[in-house]
Amino acid sequence: MKQILYTSVETQPIDEAGLGSLLDRARTNNAIRNVTGMLVYADGHFLQALEGAPVDVDSIFAKIAADSRHRDVHVFLDHAIPTRTFSDWSMGFARKNIGEIAEKTGAVNLNNLSDIYRHVNDALVLDLMVGFVNLD
Ligand SMILES: Cc1cc2nc3c(=O)[nH]c(=O)nc-3n(C[C@H](O)[C@H](O)[C@H](O)COP(=O)(O)O)c2cc1C
Repeated sequence: MKQILYTSVETQPIDEAGLGSLLDRARTNNAIRNVTGMLVYADGHFLQALEGAPVDVDSIFAKIAADSRHRDVHVFLDHAIPTRTFSDWSMGFARKNIGEIAEKTGAVNLNNLSDIYRHVNDALVLDLMVGFVNLD
């Protein structure tokens, strides 16, 4: 199994309905391929974890990376994992704001979510995401 973590930035403001249809499609596709994960949306930025069999994760991620709804897709973790972090969620979701995330990480210089990988280690990012999915 493998896990990918990436950040990206929306190209246009995405509204509630836009997020809803994105998540619906994501959950349907991911369930078919047994891909699990978590999507955080914060002030126009995305942070997503995807996990599953490498062929499935790579196939879904190829579609995501080509999606014109976001840009600056930056993969900061792509590694083999023994067990899933988000086994219960075909795609968990949380809406947060960057200030809140910065506070939780102690990364005071977090000006945008795409900077998170520069300031926070991968394990802490995952811990944070797990906390979010449990709350929402
Ligand atoms: C931030 C973001 C996260 C996404 N996450 C997923 C996902 O987890 N799974 C998925 O299948 N599609 C996801 N998508 C949508 C894909 O880019 C693509 O539109 C979709 O997979 C196409 O599905 P289809 O081939 O069934 O038409 C995401 C898109 C964005 C912008």
